[in-house]
Amino acid sequence: MIFYFSSAGNSKWAAETVAAKTGDRLIYIPEAIDRGCYDYVLAPQERLGFIFPVHGWRPSIIVRRFVRRLVIKGYDPENTYSYMVVTAGDTIGRTVEIFRGDLRARGIALSSAFTLLMPESYLGLPGFNLDTTEKEQQKLAKAQKDLNEYIADILGRRRGVAITVKGPAPWFYSGIVGSIFLHKIITDRKFKVDPDLCIKCGKCAEICPVHDIDGGPGKAPVWKHNGLCLSCFSCYHHCPKNAISYGRASSGKGQYYFGHTFD
Ligand SMILES: Cc1cc2nc3c(=O)[nH]c(=O)nc-3n(C[C@H](O)[C@H](O)[C@H](O)COP(=O)(O)O)c2cc1C
Repeated sequence: MIFYFSSAGNSKWAAETVAAKTGDRLIYIPEAIDRGCYDYVLAPQERLGFIFPVHGWRPSIIVRRFVRRLVIKGYDPENTYSYMVVTAGDTIGRTVEIFRGDLRARGIALSSAFTLLMPESYLGLPGFNLDTTEKEQQKLAKAQKDLNEYIADILGRRRGVAITVKGPAPWFYSGIVGSIFLHKIITDRKFKVDPDLCIKCGKCAEICPVHDIDGGPGKAPVWKHNGLCLSCFSCYHHCPKNAISYGRASSGKGQYYFGHTFD
């Protein structure tokens, strides 16, 4: 069983790749939350995986909220193999330690943790940019190779693996900076749509993982300010006309989602 979340598609690709090689079933966390589904039953010997992006040097908050309510029946501390794959643009701080603690609070011991560096998806602050095309292609090629190695570990149920890219001052970034990021920087108030560019296709509303956009075919998007926005930029990146902006921070920065074609 693999629980996953993804906004720009990196973790979705990773989750689907792991599922294709392991045969494990995939559960998309936002859909599980929509259905109010927090109770699951593990079959004997079934692996338990979590695949998601780092957000602000911490596990994405939607994943943490889901895990806080998660009940896994059939979990066997002796035999169940559990792992996380965290995708990141560059550094994750203490994300592995934080998520290990979140799982421990649910009675689950993390067997192994893997970090997968992938193209950057955050651009919401000055100085935070997407990768160049060259860097993006390099990262994707390496991610494919790294993920294959991680899958070999997962299939072999290798315990005690902790591949992490903490970066400088992990306590500082995952602590105070992560807290400011979560409580002050994440906002839907800066998203705007350019009415001259918007073709009212409804893609942004359809793709928003927390249903924060009132829209749909024939309607320009209106952000609801429902308090759930992750600033994940899913709406921004998937807009076919690049009609969505995020204040001045997004100006001229382009878009990224996994599998887009290079111009
Ligand atoms: C809100 C937000 C915060 C992010 N914070 C970090 C971070 O702290 N460290 C990092 O390396 N990458 C960070 N990123 C980049 C993503 O983690 C990375 O691009 C990830 O692979 C995206 O996965 P996804 O396509 O499955 O959403 C952030 C992205 C977003 C949208």
